[in-house]
Order: sequence, then structure tokens, then C-alpha cells
Amino acid sequence: MRYADPARIEALIEGLDRFNATPGQGTTRLTYSPEFRAASDWLAARMRDAGLTVREDAVGNLWGRLEGRDPALAPVVIGSHFDSVPHGGRFDGPAGVVAGIEVAALFRQHGLTPGRPVEVIAMIEEEGARFGGGLMASRILTGRMDAARLHDIADGAGVTAAEALAAYGLDPARAHQARLAPGAIHVFLELHIEQGPVLEAHGQDVAIVDRIVGLAQLKATFRGQAGHAGTTPMANRRDALVGAVTALAQLPDLARRIGRDAVLTVGRMEVLPGGANVIPDRVSFTVDIRAPEEGVVTDLIAQTRAVIEQVGGNGLGVEIEQQLFAAPTPLSAPLHAALTRHAERLGLQGRTMVSGAGHDAMIFADFAPTGLVFVPSRDGISHAPQEWTDFGQLAKGVDVLFLAACELTGVRPPA
Ligand code: GLV
Ligand code: MN
Ligand code: MN
Repeated sequence: MRYADPARIEALIEGLDRFNATPGQGTTRLTYSPEFRAASDWLAARMRDAGLTVREDAVGNLWGRLEGRDPALAPVVIGSHFDSVPHGGRFDGPAGVVAGIEVAALFRQHGLTPGRPVEVIAMIEEEGARFGGGLMASRILTGRMDAARLHDIADGAGVTAAEALAAYGLDPARAHQARLAPGAIHVFLELHIEQGPVLEAHGQDVAIVDRIVGLAQLKATFRGQAGHAGTTPMANRRDALVGAVTALAQLPDLARRIGRDAVLTVGRMEVLPGGANVIPDRVSFTVDIRAPEEGVVTDLIAQTRAVIEQVGGNGLGVEIEQQLFAAPTPLSAPLHAALTRHAERLGLQGRTMVSGAGHDAMIFADFAPTGLVFVPSRDGISHAPQEWTDFGQLAKGVDVLFLAACELTGVRPPA
């Protein structure tokens, strides 16, 4: 039995991808950018087409509600994010948002009224590509991040998240209203592309995730003295860039040495003032650290700090800011079992998997029972323009969520 419509899914994925700051060079849709606003308005219209009542919350998450027979019951929430990394792909995030809309469309198509509400959510700033840290929507919604922090975090141009929110048309003074009351969600379900090669390599359709790795993000800043590249003798320099690269060249080996599936990435670096003939005086880079075991993540953080501070000790100032820490997170075992059962009932080839990528699901997992379903990524590529998942594969993942949503809302799925 198949339910979801690959053509409908394709239309939503491709339609959303038109809101992109870098057409032809992958997808770039940063939170609160003009493309993000246009995408949100377009998504709101598509949610209404699927029969949902739409609201935008105080930080710009978009919610579409399919009313339940008992509106007072907490909803089953299905969704993901619609921001992207710079020059990324069209599926990371949108696949889960589109999955939620398609589940709602299936309820409507089959004339089903859920016993409790079903809500679809499209979230902001999961990637942290604009304001750093990431997982921002889920952290604000669940109370892990105080909305007042929006005044403290800024993008690369120095625009604070609060200023960007105001320019987006929302009132930063009300941002705290986005926080959910305890018990406000019955369960949270997310569909995501795998972003790795395992499902494709095994010819499998879906993975039901049972655990998400721990992750941390640091930002290190080295401060030196700017000066003339031609007239400052080598012996008299305090070059922030030389310090930064000396430290960062040592970091990947920390992860290799500690092993235990730990990974460490420096993905962004900023060099100021940025003149070819000026000695750099301020250099920052990010450090993304992940491992399945919390102790390994915390050890790697400590070792990273030690390397940076030791290099900084050579006459440079250093600051290290921890922008994100999320412990390894087990997802709901009963939901894992249910999602596995639904996949089997659909005749899908499935497996259990640990997620090496971070997802909003890992933040929701402490707030409500949470389930996460992966669908295959072609060649295992993600966070790159080549990111691809066949629409028929996406539809199979949506079918698993649809059966789960039926069961969780007391509805008999169509035969
Ligand atoms: C999100 O893609 C993350 O894992 O950082
Ligand atoms: Mn991502
Ligand atoms: Mn994602």
C-alpha cells in the first residue's frame, strides 16, 4: 500500500527551492532573509491548500493546524526546518516540512478527522548558518534558550537576531511568547534525509533513528595587532591569522586520536580587517565537535580549548565561546518501535540508525516523545548542491509518518 504522492512532494520541494539567494549554486536561504520571508509566505499558502489553519509564532516558525475531534488535546507535531546552510541542498530541512504538509494532505484526501490535532511546523535557524549555534527554533520553543538571547547573538555583519526579527516583521519584545507550555506537544515526528551513504549502500528505504550524537560548537577568536605588511618586521608581529591556523592545524588530530567515532570540523573562518597588505588583528573560526558518547564530546572540547589557549599564550589574545552543546540524545523507544512496525507493514526495507547529524528532534526529545525517520541520500551527499533524494523515496518515508500520525490520533488508515 502506498499513500503519499511523489508528484505533490516534488512540487513542494521544487517550489520552495525557488526562494534561494544563490540560484544555480546550491540553496542558500538564511533565517529572516528576504528569501526566507518569501519562502515562509509561500509555505503558508501551501499549508492552507492542504487544509491547515496557519499561524506564524513570535520568532517566525510557521505552524499549520489540522483540527482534531478534541481540540483541547495536545497535537501530534510533524516538521523540520526551512533555513539552509550556504550553498547547500534543497532537501535538508524542507523534506521534513513537506512531509508534514503531505501527511495533512493525506488526511484531507481520505476524509479523515484526527482524534487530536495534527500540527505541521516549519522552523527557523536549525543550521545556525546566520546566527551560529543552530537548533534555535527548537531550543526557544522548549525553553532551552531564552528569547532574550536574540539581542546578544549576531550575524557576520553584526546584525543581532532581534534586529533581524524586527526587519522580518515580528516584534522582538514578544519573542518569549514562542515558548511552549509543558505538555503542549503530544509527540514530535521529523522526517529527514539521511545525509550519509548507509541506506543507499544497503538498498534500504528508511532508517528509524534511535539516537542522535552529542554535538558542540565553539567559536574561537584570536586577537593580535594590525599593521603594515611591508614595514612591520617579522619579529615584531602579533599576527592573529598565524596564531589561528597554528591552532586549527592541530585540531583534526585530536578527534583522530580520541577515536570512538568522534569528528571535528572547522567550517568557517573570518579574517579581519581582511586586507592583502594588512597584518590580521582579529581572526575567528568555528569548531564543530560530535561523538556518540557525551564524555568524548566533553573531552574533545577540553582538548580543543587547551590547544587554542596554548597558542594564544604566545602574545595573542584568545576568547572561546561555546555556542551550542547538545548531549547525545536517545529518542522515544515506543515511537521507534511503532515507526519500525509501520515501515514493516508498508513492506519497506528498513534499519535502525544513530544520527551523526544534529536535528531539532534532539531538542524536542527532552520535551515530548520524539521520533525521527531518515530516507536515502544519493551518494550520501548533503550540505552541498548535489544533495538529492528521489521523490518516490521521500514518499515512502512520508507513508511511515502518515501511519504513525493515524495511530497517534486514533484514526484507521485507509485500506
Ligand atoms: C545540521 O545539519 C547539523 O547536523 O549541523
Ligand atoms: Mn543541515
Ligand atoms: Mn537538517
